[in-house]
Amino acid sequence: MRPIVVLMLAGVARALVAPAAKRPRFTRAFAAAGDPREVLEKAVASALGAAFGPEYNDPSKAALRPATKKTFGDFQCNAAMAIAKPLKKNPREVATELVERLEADATVQNTLATPLEVAGPGFVNMRLSDDYLSTTVEAMATEENCGLPKASQKQTIVVDYSSPNIAKEMHVGHLRSTIIGDALANCLELRGHDVIRQNHVGDWGTQFGMLLEHLGDNTDASISDLVAFYKEAKQRFDSDGDFKERARERVVSLQKGDAATLDAWRKLCDVSRVEFDAIYDRLSVCGLEEKGESFYNDRLSNVVEELESSGVAEVSDGALVVFDEKDKKKEKVPLIIRKSDGGFLYATTDLAAVDYRSKELKANRVLYVTDAGQSGHFKAVFQAAQRSQELGDMSLEHVPFGLVQGEDGKKFATRSGETVRLKDLLDEAESRCLTELQERDSDAEDLTELAKVVGIGAVKYADLSLNRESNYKFSYEKMLSLSGNTAPYMLYGYARINGIRRKAQEEVGVGKVVLKEDAERDLARHLALLSATIVDLERELRPNALCDYLFELAQIFNRFYESCPVLKAESDDIRASRATLCAATAAALRLGLEEVLGIGLVDRL
Ligand code: ARG
Repeated sequence: MRPIVVLMLAGVARALVAPAAKRPRFTRAFAAAGDPREVLEKAVASALGAAFGPEYNDPSKAALRPATKKTFGDFQCNAAMAIAKPLKKNPREVATELVERLEADATVQNTLATPLEVAGPGFVNMRLSDDYLSTTVEAMATEENCGLPKASQKQTIVVDYSSPNIAKEMHVGHLRSTIIGDALANCLELRGHDVIRQNHVGDWGTQFGMLLEHLGDNTDASISDLVAFYKEAKQRFDSDGDFKERARERVVSLQKGDAATLDAWRKLCDVSRVEFDAIYDRLSVCGLEEKGESFYNDRLSNVVEELESSGVAEVSDGALVVFDEKDKKKEKVPLIIRKSDGGFLYATTDLAAVDYRSKELKANRVLYVTDAGQSGHFKAVFQAAQRSQELGDMSLEHVPFGLVQGEDGKKFATRSGETVRLKDLLDEAESRCLTELQERDSDAEDLTELAKVVGIGAVKYADLSLNRESNYKFSYEKMLSLSGNTAPYMLYGYARINGIRRKAQEEVGVGKVVLKEDAERDLARHLALLSATIVDLERELRPNALCDYLFELAQIFNRFYESCPVLKAESDDIRASRATLCAATAAALRLGLEEVLGIGLVDRL
């Protein structure tokens, strides 16, 4: 998979599983981690189908929820209440019939403690059996990726993220898109899908006329400072009529494919790319494939033709536009496809990209990770594409996120009101982190390297741990705090748990898991919910739920460790069992933090 910054500060290799000699063989017939929620949803569906007719054999009708109280068990099935009505039956009767069938099902017997209990108006309380929990934890401790099951249907999924603009500074919105998009793509890949990570770079359009014309006049001008370069070009464009005219002509030669103009354009793109790549490097983002707006140039006319011939687009004030399907009176601002001067726009390129992703890439799902301000744009583009193109069942999903604000709640900016450069933002996170680490442990070596991993991790985690649609206040202080749901807390927790895990495995290896104490069972139960959390992420695209899960895992582990000694446990069996619980916890944290969220781990903090 992706190379992630791994520090081996203490010089100890992070072998995740026990050395081969000590690894026990699990001999039970039923030994895979699996996702208990998925197993139970299927079992409930097939029981309902058998009892009440095939239309009820549908896992989405299983209405399986986490139990509201620990005393009720682990899951609660609410299906009986919902289907009693159409069946004209008493919900408790439906629940009783369901329970009888479930208890006779071998998978259920392997998963749940029986007998099952019907409660209240018709809930079925379900408690994972200790045997099931033990097997799951054993598998999580020893299998690759915690034994996370692959999706039953492999899909091709395009994740369109990051997508900065050439000759412009990458801003904090692009940072959010990069961090969130990367985490989603990682999750989908782990679930076994074919993931295509696309960087829809803004590298085409009328502004390139002025940029290229300005570049042409300054043959030896340095464009190392692209922001300044952009400003100069814009100033000339606004004040010099002659320049403006030449800039217009430049756009035309660029679109016609004039060799010299294309060369100059490439130079501009290259300069920007160097800057973008430096940021991606620091964020350990890889596999992002550049398919910028220019890539779709050849497809534009085709798509426009489809829009016209299907009658979806129409001419209005000389421009080609698409009105919202519901806007029969044509009162709202339409989606502009072609300006009256013949120029194509952002929306046109996006329509061509939809066409490419469905026809060439044969995508099943396309995710667009951008700020919520573009929701209207994507709604209109998706609708226009669905009306004019053959998309089959390809789903188009906008994954919006909120604004980043300064601590004062205003636009995130430097003191002088300028946009914050991402490079400066990451530098600051690292340097503040270094100061904190030095204050805590001034003698330690390698703090600079450590501060890089933790500082970048803090920026990423702060973003991912919040509901992505809300605006958030960017605070170095908060994100670098060692307490609360932050990267330093999680990285510290991981380092500590992994240390315990390593020592325990060196001394006792791993072994059969036995759950005697409440704290052991609580930990095992939470571990068993990892798969369902990742499956939810695949569907709902909300990384903060995974952060919450991991935060809770670290806390549940602490409670376990306080009440259940590992190395000093009373017998070898219990020592091996607890060592396995430690190994599964470390593996789950590593999977979530590193493999999914893209947070580099450290061995010590
Ligand atoms: N370049 C755009 C921006 O900076 C984001 C592009 C998002 N992707 C897309 N297919 N429109 O806002």
